[in-house]
Amino acid sequence: TDNYVVMGNPIAHSKSPEIHRAFAAQTQQALNYQTLLVPLEAFADTAKQFFAAAQAKGANVTVPFKEQAFALCDELSERAQLAGAVNTLIKLDNGKLRGDNTDGLGLVSDLQAHVDLHGAKVLLLGAGGAAKGCLLPLLEAGVASIDIFNRTYAKAQQLAAVAPATCQACESESLAQGYDVVINSTSASLNGQLPDVPGSIIAAHTLCYDMMYGKEITAFNQWAQAQGAKQVIDGLGMLVGQAAHSFNLWRGVLPAVTPVLQQLRQQLE
Ligand code: ATR
Repeated sequence: TDNYVVMGNPIAHSKSPEIHRAFAAQTQQALNYQTLLVPLEAFADTAKQFFAAAQAKGANVTVPFKEQAFALCDELSERAQLAGAVNTLIKLDNGKLRGDNTDGLGLVSDLQAHVDLHGAKVLLLGAGGAAKGCLLPLLEAGVASIDIFNRTYAKAQQLAAVAPATCQACESESLAQGYDVVINSTSASLNGQLPDVPGSIIAAHTLCYDMMYGKEITAFNQWAQAQGAKQVIDGLGMLVGQAAHSFNLWRGVLPAVTPVLQQLRQQLE
C-alpha cells in the first residue's frame, strides 16, 4: 500500500491523518497516512530515509520544516517557488522529489465557497510565511488588488516588491475603506491580540477570514464582527482545503471538503 506521512515537530496533534484517511475512504483509495515526528536538526535525513522505501509516495510538511522541505526538492512548482516554502512532497516515478505548496489553494478554495473573488479588493494582514504563500493563488483567482499591511512595514514592502504590481504595501494611513475581503494571516490571534488596523477597513459587505481557528471565535473575527462585517470565517476550511489539494496532487482526485470540515468542526475543543 502507498505510504504518506505528515512531518513536523510537534506533530502528535496534527489533524492531517484524520483528514487524509477520510479523503481516502470518500474516494475509495487504499493508502496509509501517519504522523512522523522529525527531530529538529534532522529534517533532510528523516525525509530521505522515509522516501527511500518503495511504498513511500508523498508527505505533508508542517511547522517548522516548510523552508527546509523547499531546499530539499529536486523540482518545485511555481507556487512553491514564490512561497519559498513546501507543504507537499511528491515522489515522482523516477524517484525524484517534487515540492508544491497547497496552503494558498486551500485558502482560495475556502474563500470561493463563500464569496466571488473575481475583481475583489483584498486586504492581507501580515507579511510572514502564511501571507507569502497565498499571494499567487489569490491573484490567479482573479482578485483586483491586494493591499498588504504588516506591523513591521518593511516586511510588507519586501513582500510587495517581489509580487506583481497589483500587490502593494500599505501603512495605516493609506488603507482603503471597506475592502471586499480582509484576510488575517498574522499569528496575533494566537495570543488573543489584534493587528493595529482601523475599523474603517470593514464595511457591511466585507468578508473577513482569519487563518487561525479554534472552538471559540478568534479575537480577530470577533473584532471584525463588532465592526459590522458581513461574514467572518476561520481557517479550519483552509486546513482541510490544503489537504484536499495535496491529496489531488498525489492521487489525481480532488476530494469533497465539506463533510470532512463538518466532522472536524464537531470535534474542536
Ligand atoms: P507565519 O508563517 O504564520 O506567517 P511568521 O512568518 O512568523 O509566521 O509571520 C508572523 C506574522 O504575524 C508577521 O507578519 C508578524 O508581524 P511582524 O512581521 O511585525 O513580526 C505578525 N504578527 C505576529 N504577532 C502579531 C501581533 N501581536 N500583532 C500584529 N502582527 C503580528
